[in-house]
Amino acid sequence: MVLTEVLILLHFLKELPYFSAMIRVIILGAGNVAQHLFTAFYEHKSVEVVQCYNRKGKRLHPNQKENTITQDLNTLKEADVYILAVSDDAIEEVSNLLPFNNKFIVHTSGSVPMNTLNSNHRRGVFYPLQTFSEDTVVDFASIPFCLEAEYEENMIFLKKLTSTLSKKIYEVSSEQRNVLHVSAVFVNNFTNHLFSIANDICNNYNIPFEILRPLVLETAQKATKMNPDLAQTGPAIRNDSKTIKRHLKILTDTTQQEIYKTLTKAIQSKYGKKL
Ligand SMILES: NC(=O)c1ccc[n+]([C@@H]2O[C@H](COP(=O)([O-])OP(=O)(O)OC[C@H]3O[C@@H](n4cnc5c(N)ncnc54)[C@H](OP(=O)(O)O)[C@@H]3O)[C@@H](O)[C@H]2O)c1
Repeated sequence: MVLTEVLILLHFLKELPYFSAMIRVIILGAGNVAQHLFTAFYEHKSVEVVQCYNRKGKRLHPNQKENTITQDLNTLKEADVYILAVSDDAIEEVSNLLPFNNKFIVHTSGSVPMNTLNSNHRRGVFYPLQTFSEDTVVDFASIPFCLEAEYEENMIFLKKLTSTLSKKIYEVSSEQRNVLHVSAVFVNNFTNHLFSIANDICNNYNIPFEILRPLVLETAQKATKMNPDLAQTGPAIRNDSKTIKRHLKILTDTTQQEIYKTLTKAIQSKYGKKL
């Protein structure tokens, strides 16, 4: 190949997203995930968030330029990937409303199948397995990303994009992601609800919840260091029935009592034979 041919080839390759130096991203949605992703990409020289779409014309970052925000899907620009960080139930609708075809579009949901996205596009999933809230700082480097793509070339590109944020990259199918998401609901959402109940109980008896903080941290840390089956302690596994009765008397809220009884029963049936 002569030099001019090599140069033409290089020029052509640079037009492709997985070879070009700067990755152009458009983020749709303005919620927790959209805002954290924008902030993370903003700090990267190799990624440019060329535009953001959301219904309210909201800024995702104080430094975001006004002319990169649109409330009109028909004004969406050219990008290498369109990240739909909208509510699970809106993913299909928003993908159906996109005014172009054959672009690479991904959603960020843990449970929505990839093929929920409109099939006029090349589809993928870019799921950060972490909990995002408005006022918390997120360290993307420690977040596992579950990726899926219909086409190999898009997976290569998605890995390149993800590697700007994290090294924890997993290829995960829609079915596997759904299973992971159920586990994540137990690990995060249900556990947090239990923290919230504990906070309510402390408030009812004028006890500062902060006394429990070291226990909260130790519980989570233990689960990362050893098999959680081996970390179980408490009155249920010990079958301390008098303590269990005393606890149930303290709980006046019937939902709290039901949760206490259900979890006690679950622990006892799991470890029952070992008692
Ligand atoms: N939060 C987490 O911890 C977390 C973690 C991993 C993955 N995810 C996934 O990431 C996605 C976004 O979650 P989030 O927590 O960022 O949600 P969120 O904070 O509730 O924000 C949802 C966004 O979706 C937009 N939206 C809803 N319906 C829409 C529609 N019909 N058309 C256009 N925009 C619409 C909302 O716009 P308006 O403000 O106009 O209503 C809002 O900007 C979800 O798929 C979620 O499962 C979330």
